[in-house]
Amino acid sequence: FYIGVDLGTSAVKLLLMDSEGKIRKIVSKQYPISFPHPGWSEQNPVDWYEKSIEGIRELTEDINRQEVAGISFGGQMHGLVTLDGQDEVIRPAILWNDGRSTKETDYLNEVIGKERLSEYIANIAFTGFTAPKILWMKENEPDQFARIRKIMLPKDYLAYRLSGVFCSDYSDASGMLLLDVKHRCWSEEMMELCGVRRDQLPDLYESYDVVGTLKPEVASELGFPEQVKIIAGAGDNAAAAVGTGTVGEGMCNISLGTSGTIFISSEHFRVDQNNALHSFAHADGQYHLMGCMLSAASCNKWWMEEILKTSDFAKEQEGILRLGENQVFYLPYLMGERSPHNDPKARAVFVGLTMDTTREEMTQAVLEGVVFGLRDSLEIARSLGISITRTRICGGGAKSPLWKKMVANIMNLKVDVIKSEEGPALGGAILAAVGCGEYESVEEAAGRLIRVVETVEPDPELTEKYENCYRKFQKLYPALKPLFQ
Ligand code: XUL
Repeated sequence: FYIGVDLGTSAVKLLLMDSEGKIRKIVSKQYPISFPHPGWSEQNPVDWYEKSIEGIRELTEDINRQEVAGISFGGQMHGLVTLDGQDEVIRPAILWNDGRSTKETDYLNEVIGKERLSEYIANIAFTGFTAPKILWMKENEPDQFARIRKIMLPKDYLAYRLSGVFCSDYSDASGMLLLDVKHRCWSEEMMELCGVRRDQLPDLYESYDVVGTLKPEVASELGFPEQVKIIAGAGDNAAAAVGTGTVGEGMCNISLGTSGTIFISSEHFRVDQNNALHSFAHADGQYHLMGCMLSAASCNKWWMEEILKTSDFAKEQEGILRLGENQVFYLPYLMGERSPHNDPKARAVFVGLTMDTTREEMTQAVLEGVVFGLRDSLEIARSLGISITRTRICGGGAKSPLWKKMVANIMNLKVDVIKSEEGPALGGAILAAVGCGEYESVEEAAGRLIRVVETVEPDPELTEKYENCYRKFQKLYPALKPLFQ
């Protein structure tokens, strides 16, 4: 058996896969997230570990635990986890959707300069990335900063607690702004700029590499054999790409999770001239380009749970029948926005309400607004000459047939649906299987295990209607931008 751990923002999802590649069980455990100031976003790494252990126990309660061979991960990216000399967490992790480091981001982009950054690490700075947060901590919490012995990413904290090995993988490390992505090594220049020493950073592995085995005390706590292998794993988007078979040249995957991403796999290292898309390493040993919006399925979750006070998301979508005709628009910037606006101060907005606006129209606007936001990133990829006509899809939002139909028609893409939308958790389990030698490569595993079960085709009439809506949507952010400053 192989276990894939998707260390998400709202919950950890654990997936059990057998040696034939069949998904046997999925377990999910939630943990809190705190927003101590507007635009800040933090979690306690100890919660991640405890909930993962609880989840792994439940996941494996019906099987012979001695048959577990490997564990791997897909983890929320960019989060800053810091440990002291006693391996204690110094402060809550600062997450990927945290916007506090605007000053440090501006310093990196404007003073050091985007050109130099791009030369060192193939990317420019965004507030959620790890390096600006390290600079923020250095400036604002100097005593805590001085105590740092280890800097790690969220899923690497799990690997460390499980195996005692201080490790990361190239895909996730790409989002730290400390990795020379092209050459797959730490950047001396960036370490120096951030005041970070090499010994404070983990050793680097490919996502499918075995980094170690379970610590004896953890193995006995779980009733697992000690030789259970820990495989490096990947950032959640690269893991999701593995879990949807998005490997090799020119494949596309869309994830509708807390964040929304569009991921384009590539055999070769490539970087977009304006660095509007992230240029990161992939979990298959190759590369990818990616656009990321900070609030995707989380917009719908917020609208359903906080405002409409309901947990029946599907029921709220039943009455939405008139696609392409909605006069209500929603800008999905609850946490500011990364791709393409790079504006932590942007905020969510409803536009176009009238006395007869209905609950359904507002729900529809939220779902559509997220897809319009994703289309903004797709437009950048298209402007680079990358032709994308179809995509795979995963994440909680991919469970909704209506949302998939919107993706197909707003983005004018054929949407290939995979049997399971558990992208990162399935990707993690596949990486574990590759690491344990069940498959020769990630590409081989994905080719054998991932099947498209349905394709949602865009309807030309609806696509045209949505084209008009998108043109209106595109005008909203530039018009409202001055209000957000
Ligand atoms: C990607 C990103 C998000 C997180 C979500 O750059 O920040 O997709 O990885 O977990």
